[in-house]
Amino acid sequence: MDVNREVILAPSLLSADFSRLALELEALERAGVPWVHWDVMDGSFVPNITFGAPVIARCRKESALFFDVHLMIDDPDRYLEDFVQAGADLVCVHAEACRHLERTLSEIAAMGAKPAVALNPHTPLEMIDYILPQVHMVLIMSVNPGFGGQKFIPFSLDKIRRLKTLLASRRLKTLIQVDGGVSPENAFELVQCGADVLVSGSAFFNHPPYAQRHETFMRSARRKK
Ligand code: DX5
Ligand code: ZN
Repeated sequence: MDVNREVILAPSLLSADFSRLALELEALERAGVPWVHWDVMDGSFVPNITFGAPVIARCRKESALFFDVHLMIDDPDRYLEDFVQAGADLVCVHAEACRHLERTLSEIAAMGAKPAVALNPHTPLEMIDYILPQVHMVLIMSVNPGFGGQKFIPFSLDKIRRLKTLLASRRLKTLIQVDGGVSPENAFELVQCGADVLVSGSAFFNHPPYAQRHETFMRSARRKK
């Protein structure tokens, strides 16, 4: 493991207070958190419904955080422009939800956002083999998407490790993000396996103050007591 590489925490707003999103964003920024993770759900690709581009666009005016937009929606091509216009810095689509994944990723990049691809727990890495050079980040889902507070699926560790090896063998600097059941308890192991960006919903927002929780995550990721 490259011990000097930067680890990023991306709190998932799915576990934030939806009635005060602007204040939550402000609190995250004050806590020194670099990214914020937006879980967009359509009630079709996943069983839950959250928010869409208008909510993100309004919040963009209130925050300078890096907006990491995780689209858990079918056929995301229909809404790419809306989310980029809304101010997404990164747009992550699910490989399982795209009919022409290469084109979708190229379009995100052409619109000026960073393209990323997510894989459900059962989806093999081989599915994204050919498009690795064109993505800024790969999201390894470590729960079945749709809800916060689920249990981490252990085989995700092996998947992250294999992806890290694959990227290194191709000299690619693609980031690895892990999402679902992430906590200070497994942060070190995840980083050791190759994770660069840790998404956390419940294990972050249920433990204020945010600055302290961010610090706890970062220390755990580095296993500093
Ligand atoms: C799951 C979402 C996650 C979720 C993680 O469908 O993609 O981002 O918010 O929540 P926790 O950290 O509670 O598992
Ligand atoms: Zn997510």
